[in-house]
Amino acid sequence: MSERPTTLLHVASEMTPLAKAGGLGDVIGALAAEQARRGHRVTVALPAYRSLAVPEGWTRHPHPGCDVPWGLGVEPAGFEILRPPARPGGREGGDGGAGASGGSLEVLLVEHRGARRFFDREGIYDDPARGQSYPDGAERFMFFARAALQALARRGEPIDILHAHDHQAGWVPCFARTHLAAEPAFAGVATVFTIHNLGYQGIHDPWVLGLAGFGRELFYPAGPFEFFGRVNDMKVGLLFADLLSTVSPRYAREIQSGGEFGFGLEGVLQHRSADLRGILNGIDDETWDPARDRFLPHPYDRAHPEGKLKVRAALREECGFPASPDWPLVGTVTRLVEQKGLDLIEQAEADLLRLDARFIILGAGQPRFQELLTRLMIRHPQRFYYRAGFDERFAHLIEGGCDLFLMPSRYEPCGLNQMYSLRYGTLPVVRATGGLADTVSDFDLEARTGTGFVFQRYEAAEMVAALRRGLTAWRQPAVRAGLMERGMSLDFSWRASADGYDRLYADALARVRAGAAPTLDSVRAAM
Ligand code: ADP
Ligand code: GLC
Repeated sequence: MSERPTTLLHVASEMTPLAKAGGLGDVIGALAAEQARRGHRVTVALPAYRSLAVPEGWTRHPHPGCDVPWGLGVEPAGFEILRPPARPGGREGGDGGAGASGGSLEVLLVEHRGARRFFDREGIYDDPARGQSYPDGAERFMFFARAALQALARRGEPIDILHAHDHQAGWVPCFARTHLAAEPAFAGVATVFTIHNLGYQGIHDPWVLGLAGFGRELFYPAGPFEFFGRVNDMKVGLLFADLLSTVSPRYAREIQSGGEFGFGLEGVLQHRSADLRGILNGIDDETWDPARDRFLPHPYDRAHPEGKLKVRAALREECGFPASPDWPLVGTVTRLVEQKGLDLIEQAEADLLRLDARFIILGAGQPRFQELLTRLMIRHPQRFYYRAGFDERFAHLIEGGCDLFLMPSRYEPCGLNQMYSLRYGTLPVVRATGGLADTVSDFDLEARTGTGFVFQRYEAAEMVAALRRGLTAWRQPAVRAGLMERGMSLDFSWRASADGYDRLYADALARVRAGAAPTLDSVRAAM
């Protein structure tokens, strides 16, 4: 890339270890650290949620607040900078871990100081008291996007790349090309928008356009700000960014194909097809490493897989399952939402009971699925164990202690748990969709190839058949050892993905230098 370090800002609503609801948090935390390690100057803008978990060793630094334009008025923003600790030889970024490469990592916390306190609340997206999303989601994240850019503009240092993630950051590329286009900090900036999940788009009533600083005259049918009579944050991001990416090559194809994957945006994605890339997520291979995992009672690795048996025994005991008969343990860790295929588990209840296996499920989410899983555990306590809520330690214990891992997703942009499973020698059983299809290869008994068990159609019978194949293979020690060995030797570290993003950034910058950055007029004209 350029001779001087690339200066880049990620705008995202989650980042481990500070705030996480799902895979987005893992991805932002690990990607930013890897980019700092390879010499970039990385800032991650993150809302200052009340629930933020700032680990020991991180330092906090004041940063001047400012007023953020908001409709016809302004709303006050406060900021704070967080820096991770220096970790010699580590990959945490910070000034230390990344220092040798000249890179750095810091977090820009965005606080809303207006009366409604957008982020000083219990949950990230949902109000735990009501079990629903906060009703002012449109305002919360539009404010976040605008305030983050405003802070950077005031700092004045030139930024090379604005990298916006999912609909919460959808307005970032638009604001950078409109209201903030004349700011010296953004004079040569390129913008990139990454889709982590097209199933969540941030769709709101049209009045929010006024808050964004645009007149109703721009809200005409089929314009960039209109989506079936409403405003769609994801669509705005998709139209104003220089380049687009999503989190696996297969999902990049699926979302343009329409049907169940496009969620109404397939036309926009086809329109930008040449600008959309699929870059497979990596995993944080320090946090998710069975040899070093602080949550596992015993370490193990590819050369010493026997340690896994002790983890397995600890998990079985924690779930209250008997040691005899010693049936295989099948794990699932998931948000309890439609996307994740839980209705297949519901439909397959009787067949699952015939499998001589025990199921361990950890998940938080929709009450309907919580009730389903609670009911299964009450009816069949020796076969189903369900733990409600978000429990990081237990998620690691399931990855380490289970024999198989089930992900029957309806769709899956990338998915991280199947990659964790491969690394932990836990055989994945997945549906052939999105990143699951790109990371798990189906076992072939004759050729002795494959790393897991893949089923094609979204049907309970197909899922049960794949599980049955998985259990049969697992019961044969030599076959099992081969599967584990192949899975555990795969490299899903961030290095390859970060290379993909470096290329994406270089191409986006080249476009901007060639004068091809979008403007409000060019985006409107292209529609
Ligand atoms: P998604 O982002 O769609 O939820 P991913 O597979 O990309 O799916 O990532 C999910 C991440 O969230 C994984 O790290 C998984 O372990 C974690 N996770 C999901 N639900 C829970 C839970 N209830 N407790 C702990 N971790 C969870
Ligand atoms: C989304 C997707 C998931 C992906 C994650 C991180 O939440 O549902 O498949 O792994 O984002 O990109």
